[in-house]
Amino acid sequence: MQKIYISELAKYVGQEITIQGWLYNKRSSGKLRFLVLRDGSGYLQCVYFKGNITPEIFDLSDRIGQESAIEVTGKVKAEPRAVGGYELDATNLTVLHETHDYPITPKDHGIEFLMDNRHLWLRSSRQVAIMKIRHRIVKAIRDFFDDRGFTLMDAPILTPAACEGTSTLFETEYFDLGKAYLTQSGQLYAEAGALALGKVYTFGPTFRAEKSKTRRHLTEFWMVEPEVAFADLNDDMDLAEEFLEYIVQTVLTDRAEELKTLERDTTKLQSVKRPFPRISYDEAVEILKKNGVEFEYGNDLGAADETIVSNQFDRPVMVHRYPSEVKAFYMKRDPENPKLALAVDVLAPEGYGEIIGGSQREDSLDLLLARIKEHNLPQSAFEWYLDLRRFGSVPHAGFGLGLERTVTWICGLDHLRETIPFPRMIYRNTP
Ligand code: 4AD
Ligand code: MG
Repeated sequence: MQKIYISELAKYVGQEITIQGWLYNKRSSGKLRFLVLRDGSGYLQCVYFKGNITPEIFDLSDRIGQESAIEVTGKVKAEPRAVGGYELDATNLTVLHETHDYPITPKDHGIEFLMDNRHLWLRSSRQVAIMKIRHRIVKAIRDFFDDRGFTLMDAPILTPAACEGTSTLFETEYFDLGKAYLTQSGQLYAEAGALALGKVYTFGPTFRAEKSKTRRHLTEFWMVEPEVAFADLNDDMDLAEEFLEYIVQTVLTDRAEELKTLERDTTKLQSVKRPFPRISYDEAVEILKKNGVEFEYGNDLGAADETIVSNQFDRPVMVHRYPSEVKAFYMKRDPENPKLALAVDVLAPEGYGEIIGGSQREDSLDLLLARIKEHNLPQSAFEWYLDLRRFGSVPHAGFGLGLERTVTWICGLDHLRETIPFPRMIYRNTP
């Protein structure tokens, strides 16, 4: 038997077919039973009319509970009012696994209960929509770089040293070699890649042992990090805005149905078009002051500050040239003002905060050595990285985009925990 999925029903109108899936929900009305089947590719209302089927099948349709695994047979009918636009005039029902008392019902459940049952919660239409959008974003990311001459060059996950500050490292014993750390970012390795291949990107899981309980923090999240040789901060910002426009516009086109399921106001995404506003940190501080925020110059922007700044714009805003003291050791200083780093954070609109962090990298051996000392980092662990400044050093730049923050923003969610299949947070590492 050829396997047919709900997403392919357009080809089978008027034909008798069989589909396998799970009972999503059901209702009854007199001699009719409406079973909604889900198969991962979509939803299909199957109509069982008492007069058309055996009494056994009619009883079965009454008896089986939500999430029973079933096989339905019937004739496909175009029905614009039904979910997905088709309906099945059902004639047969086979139960593959009868289920009762499925714990997640259409009523409201508390978030902790749903998180404890994440392995089942993933079957709900909302979670399915989010996972499909996440997948489309991942593909858009890969397509974007692949189509522009970048080479995917993944970085190791077990690393000998910190990249983004020592306070958020997960550590583990590594045989006779002492400690190893779960990577916070693939960037340092991407830099080696850029000097080998010109344009590269890494894309993988990264880890932060943050004591942070906010809706924006996961301890394990996915980051894509392009790195480009012979590029400066402006080139980096050009790349970031083209990249974000591409991702958002692709999802709008290809995942309209899922965005509708999530009731996302897509007009807010339509305006994500180049050019994005570019403001300096100093200008961002001015905006905060004008809005009555008591902000101490020199601090990093907090989540509330980012919201105020981004609310001035209808598309992502790029804030560049932060005080170097609040930024990472590898960032190049601004030649016009060495107190500033050639850094950029891209803030998403609608209060979603920082989704991209990037910079031009320090390419001078002496200056980088000084930074490593200032940050109390072990020089020996960075000798290989310093080699990149000893042999053929060139201006280079890159950034990191947090996948889950991007999915949260595009889906219009209020927490990162729904954007990754099995979230890891300070207070949760199950299921
Ligand atoms: O700003 P971050 O720390 O930058 C870096 O790691 C650089 N090495 C990137 C580079 O230049 N190649 O992190 C980059 C992005 C953030 O903007 C955010 O989207 C995401 O990673 N991110 C997190 N996402 C979820 N949970 C966390 N705890 C995150 N920390 C950072
Ligand atoms: Mg950052």
